[in-house]
Amino acid sequence: VTTSIYTKDLEVICDAIPAAVIAVDINFRVRIFNPLAEALFDLGRHNVLGRVVNEIAALEPLRELPIGETLEREISYLSQEKTLQINGQPLPVTFDIIPLSDPGNQLTKALVIIKNYNLGRPAENHLHHLEILANIGRMNASTIHEIRNPLTSISGFIQLLEVRASRQDDQTAVNYCTLITNEITHINNILSDFLALAKPQENKIDKIDIVQLVRDVLGFMYGEARLFQISLLRALPDKPIYILGNGEKIKEVLINICRNAFQSMSPGGILTIRISESSQNVHIAVTDTGHGMTDETIANIFKPFFTTKETGTGLGLAICQRIMLDHRGEIQVESELDKGSTFSLLFPSLLSQDSETAS
Ligand SMILES: Nc1ncnc2c1ncn2[C@@H]1O[C@H](COP(=O)(O)OP(=O)(O)O)[C@@H](O)[C@H]1O
Ligand SMILES: [Mg+2]
Repeated sequence: VTTSIYTKDLEVICDAIPAAVIAVDINFRVRIFNPLAEALFDLGRHNVLGRVVNEIAALEPLRELPIGETLEREISYLSQEKTLQINGQPLPVTFDIIPLSDPGNQLTKALVIIKNYNLGRPAENHLHHLEILANIGRMNASTIHEIRNPLTSISGFIQLLEVRASRQDDQTAVNYCTLITNEITHINNILSDFLALAKPQENKIDKIDIVQLVRDVLGFMYGEARLFQISLLRALPDKPIYILGNGEKIKEVLINICRNAFQSMSPGGILTIRISESSQNVHIAVTDTGHGMTDETIANIFKPFFTTKETGTGLGLAICQRIMLDHRGEIQVESELDKGSTFSLLFPSLLSQDSETAS
């Protein structure tokens, strides 16, 4: 009889395991196929349960694993590494194959557990990023100033040297001075970002009008926008929208995102900020007409120290993401190469009664 071994409890457990879990019986029929197995092989379990592995084309990668050895000779495989070909793409995985016996001690199944770094668990990477940031944050603010002070005097001396070199018409020396100055600027940028992280994270939560806050940020960015010859457009509601949060931190997020947008555009570019509200979210969208990003870049932008810029620190968006998570919010990205990008900030909506001011 080919009854399924699924019971409700077993199903709940298998579904919760953060790995692809597949059980195969002695006749090579699939008995368990959890959601991450569905994701890995791109197959619904109703198409698989009770069927023989070899009859299902999409399960071909499973045949690369020594399931037969386990079923025939009760061999266990633990934490083995292998690269499976899934949809023509190599996918490095670690796998376990464990023989299962029924209460009469007869070998009945092989339990296959496959893990891959990206399998359904983007949140794990996420946590890893936050850990790196937390460690940077622990770096003492005074240590950072200790590094910065000598740097400032080095900068001063370099400038003197540069003046002297140009007076003596020594172009090579002038070039070296410029290089050193650029590198020092780079170090200083990184230190500024560290300093922002090392600042005691006082969590002052207020009820803030996000529309006014965006207006303030746009006012603050106006000079920089002119410098880059970028126009600022806004589509803001004419009444306040309130959220709970730390206004200074949210400003920091917006400034970081606007700066990235400026840096992605050539003169004549347009930056648009929109605010909208639904029953669930307050949505701030920052759209640029810049160079956009490849999918690969998008996959990496929130990692600390990932940057595609010569003098970038790669910390801006990592910090933004942390601040948004602190607000139980979210940051989303859409981008098209050579067209531009939109960064969306989603805050939980606070549908307040007293927002019926002048409208
Ligand atoms: N608006 C944007 N348009 C295109 N690329 C962007 C944009 N915003 C961020 N990026 C990409 O994300 C990377 C990481 O950004 P960020 O964390 O702020 O670090 P940094 O600005 O120091 O490089 C940038 O180097 C860039 O490749
Ligand atoms: Mg940046």
